[in-house]
Amino acid sequence: MTKPRVFVTSKIPEQGLKILFENFDVQVSDYDGLIPKKILLEKVKGIDGLLCLLADPIDKEVIEAAGPQLKVIANYAVGYNNIDVEEATKRGIMVTNTPGVLTETTADLAWALMMAIARRIVEGDKFVRAGKFRGWEPMLLLGTDLYGATLGIIGFGRIGQAVARRAIGFKMKVLYYSRSRVNEQIEKELNATYVDLETLLKESDFVSLHLPLTKQTHHLIGQDQLKLMKKEAYLINTARGPIVDEKALVKALKENWIRGAALDVFENEPEIEPELLELENVVLAPHIGSASYNTRTKMSIMAAENIVKALSGEVPPNLVNIEVLKKK
Ligand code: NAP
Ligand code: GLV
Ligand code: GLV
Repeated sequence: MTKPRVFVTSKIPEQGLKILFENFDVQVSDYDGLIPKKILLEKVKGIDGLLCLLADPIDKEVIEAAGPQLKVIANYAVGYNNIDVEEATKRGIMVTNTPGVLTETTADLAWALMMAIARRIVEGDKFVRAGKFRGWEPMLLLGTDLYGATLGIIGFGRIGQAVARRAIGFKMKVLYYSRSRVNEQIEKELNATYVDLETLLKESDFVSLHLPLTKQTHHLIGQDQLKLMKKEAYLINTARGPIVDEKALVKALKENWIRGAALDVFENEPEIEPELLELENVVLAPHIGSASYNTRTKMSIMAAENIVKALSGEVPPNLVNIEVLKKK
């Protein structure tokens, strides 16, 4: 019997690839960097399963190019805004993601960014390397205390809550805004108070984003929202770039409507708004939220197992579009 065919759009940790090679006829892209759309359209022809990255646009054109035997699209990420899920569902294709395994790693990065911007770590590093350090100075690189500050978390799911848990040790006041309110026990455990978006923006010293990119969350943070924030506040984005209107953010940083921002994600990755590169009051990271050795390994295994289940006719553990099951 011929084995089902799987295409993997980029090298991923070998533990996940091993599972795929044991079960399928696998091809892994050897393209150096993100696979260009033109090559992707060629490579997906006739495949049964696709393992893709969050930056691969899996739109109608790609789905159509694959052909009617495509059964599963497994994203190597928890966020899946890069996939046309509606189109996939219409054609009975299962879509899966990698939730949970990257929660703590991404929450750590949100904290790393928050501390880096508040205590001016990147500026300090550049200063030392430039040979400017003359010794301890009373007014050198003064920043903002996290201890006891108010942390506003927008999107209170797995990662948002993990960020809040870390705030307990810093005795922070935690406010959150999310689509649904969590139960009282979680609020109590995390010492978190549910507020509306406006209140959160007005009262927080740090605002951290943890929601998915959807039609509803696109540009959720724009000029009006940035103007509501305190002049001394910081914006941290480890969710998705287009949730923030990047041009408005540049203006806010240049004109000091807020004190700073720390970003792991950008509106048009991998392009960066050129003015952001010129500003000192922003820390920039290259979308590394889940980038730890352990977590990336776990993600590779999870994505591979989703494909194994889907292609053996079972329901994969991390199915995103449950409606697809009704099609069977
Ligand atoms: P999650 O558990 O699904 O949490 C998302 C939260 O956002 C949920 O509480 C959800 O509410 C809320 N939400 C959804 N739509 C909303 C809206 N329109 N308004 C207000 N709240 C809304 O997801 P997660 O695992 O924490 O991941 C969150 C996001 O982080 C991912 O989607 C991904 O884009 C991003 N991420 C980035 C990195 C990185 O490398 N920087 C790494 C991992 C994840 P409900 O409870 O009502 O659904
Ligand atoms: C990373 O950004 C993810 O969504 O997993
Ligand atoms: C700083 O190094 C101090 O001792 O206060």
